[in-house]
Amino acid sequence: MDKMAVKGGNRLNGEVAASGAKNSTLPLMFATLLAEGEHVFTNVPDLLDVTSSRQLLEHLGCETSYKDHTLRIFVRGGKTFEAPYDIVRKMRASILVLGPLLARFREAKVSLPGGCAIGTRPIDLHLEGMKALGADINVEAGYVLAKTSRLQGAKILFESPTVGGTENIMMAAALAEGETFIENAAKEPEIVDLANYINKMGGKVEGAGSSIIRIQGVDRLRAAEHKVIPDRIEAGTLLIAGGITGGEVTVTDCHPADLEALIGKMREAGFKITTDGDSVTVHSCSGWKGVDITTTPHPGFPTDLQAQFMALMCQSQGTSVITEAVFENRFMHVQELVRLNADITPKTRVAVVRGTRGKLTGAPVMATDLRASACLVLAGLVAEGETVVSRIYHLDRGYENMERKLTGLGAQVRRLKD
Ligand code: UD1
Repeated sequence: MDKMAVKGGNRLNGEVAASGAKNSTLPLMFATLLAEGEHVFTNVPDLLDVTSSRQLLEHLGCETSYKDHTLRIFVRGGKTFEAPYDIVRKMRASILVLGPLLARFREAKVSLPGGCAIGTRPIDLHLEGMKALGADINVEAGYVLAKTSRLQGAKILFESPTVGGTENIMMAAALAEGETFIENAAKEPEIVDLANYINKMGGKVEGAGSSIIRIQGVDRLRAAEHKVIPDRIEAGTLLIAGGITGGEVTVTDCHPADLEALIGKMREAGFKITTDGDSVTVHSCSGWKGVDITTTPHPGFPTDLQAQFMALMCQSQGTSVITEAVFENRFMHVQELVRLNADITPKTRVAVVRGTRGKLTGAPVMATDLRASACLVLAGLVAEGETVVSRIYHLDRGYENMERKLTGLGAQVRRLKD
């Protein structure tokens, strides 16, 4: 397994472009199952999760090709509706095939995704939603077995907003008979991106990005073309990379409006951040204070930037209380940061970070999940000496060529091949 060696101490400077959003690409890829023909997506990031999703689609009878960030998916009329454990276990987002398969074939067999490092992450809300649309759902031998004569529009009230649940129901309802309302829907920009694509395919989705989404089911959808929105989490990570090293970094090709919660907190800490159209710049800063954050669903502070923000707070001149309110076990990076000499007291969902500006020291550490690995690389950028992050495949799941992007900004980062 590859590792990443990061030599701390370099101030990052320059411009770097954000890639397309992983969390948009995956649902968009699964949405193709709703319509036969050739779907074309541009601005698709080159990531391990995209490769795993292509494998799953190919298993389901689709043909895929990927070149220069353009992904083509050819969906045939055939009837394969089983998503096997071997593929689903690699990537939780595979559960998103349930809605499209059920809507189009009226039958689906999808492996349960199982637990993961950041909590149990159940899919009960997805299943309740499918039942409300009229599906018979059984869980047998590790698989969700779903059947319906035809999905019927319904009113679905999520007990708490779920990104994947909202996407799954939106896709299923697109081909259901009648009208579906999703209440307390997730409002993430990726939900809006998916709704836009469903509408390009001839669907009727309104209200995406607000807490009530209305979907008028149609009989048939057709393949279309679409450009994936920028990855706000990658953009945020790169902005923090500039900030933590005291450098001046401009992230281009992004939507600064989707980064408001992060930008607000960085400004509160003392950073000067400016935006210009589709780019955002963090200006060089010699010291910042500790600020508190609580992760919440969009437009709140994203849980996917919590670990990276914690790295930034380790370098502050003050104390920061970080509350993780979305996932129950997303502090796996704390113990690894402590190995780098960070001063953090973790409780169940709260971590108190006492900034020790300039005191981090390099050490071997282990990436435990995708965003935790980004956090460790960021900490490595300012730790004295070398930090070697192992299990870097987590990073490859969600960041396209991170070492090239960081090196381009002046970091000393290299991949150690196994
Ligand atoms: C998506 C993102 C992930 C991000 C997360 C929250 C993708 C591919 N992944 O994950 O990067 O961290 O949103 O912004 O887009 N829950 C239930 N029952 C359910 C579904 C969810 O209890 O049926 C809980 C989860 O355990 C979690 C919370 O709801 O505590 C939010 O999860 P959810 O929004 O569904 O996250 P994902 O869609 O899995």
